[in-house]
Amino acid sequence: MLEAVAPVTIRLDDGRAVGLRALTASDRAEHQLFVERLSKRSSRLRFFVPLRTLGGVQQDAYFDLDYRDRLAVVAVIGDDPAIHAVGRYARESDGVAEVALVVDDGLQGLGLGTALLRRLASLARERGFTIFSALVLPENSTMLALFEHTGWPTRVTRTRDAIRLEIELPDESQDGGPARTIET
Ligand SMILES: CC(C)(COP(=O)(O)OP(=O)(O)OC[C@H]1O[C@@H](n2cnc3c(N)ncnc32)[C@H](O)[C@@H]1OP(=O)(O)O)[C@@H](O)C(=O)NCCC(=O)NCCS
Repeated sequence: MLEAVAPVTIRLDDGRAVGLRALTASDRAEHQLFVERLSKRSSRLRFFVPLRTLGGVQQDAYFDLDYRDRLAVVAVIGDDPAIHAVGRYARESDGVAEVALVVDDGLQGLGLGTALLRRLASLARERGFTIFSALVLPENSTMLALFEHTGWPTRVTRTRDAIRLEIELPDESQDGGPARTIET
């Protein structure tokens, strides 16, 4: 199934080209470095606690991917192996997968999160998912705005500590495509 996750290139708002490809077992060291580079704030918004590093069990879980029900996409620049963003989804129930994204602090606000979400949505649709769920901390206005800007129908519920979103994934033939990024 891995080969079915075609790599694509997107362009950030500042003109830089970024590759989006599947996360693979050979990315373990770079994935760990990416997590360690995150600011405390980004780490807390993504993992709900400011993680300094991923333990072995967590690493194993992050790399337990079948590219159908559990799939992760990373952002890379050129031939440099460094990872600049990770987006993943995991099956929650029939047709529903939980999605999460995190972008290098230095690359946030340039359209990468939006591009990753759209790429994951497209891959998830191909694999029969119609809804992404997401748990977002109430203060995470960027993530909430990012979802809102997609224009995809969204149901919002409050849990005790977070906001749960259920987002209907677009049928690609009816979606206008990336609003801020161009796939090349
Ligand atoms: C949330 C996160 C993934 C977003 O990634 P990003 O690359 O910064 O996202 P984008 O650049 O695509 O979009 C972010 C901004 O552009 C805005 N935007 C998105 N689409 C837009 C559009 N079509 N027109 C105008 N603005 C738009 C968003 O509203 C947001 O604005 P804000 O930062 O001023 O509130 C990133 O900030 C991050 O890693 N945060 C820490 C981890 C985290 O919060 N993860 C979410 C857990 S589910």
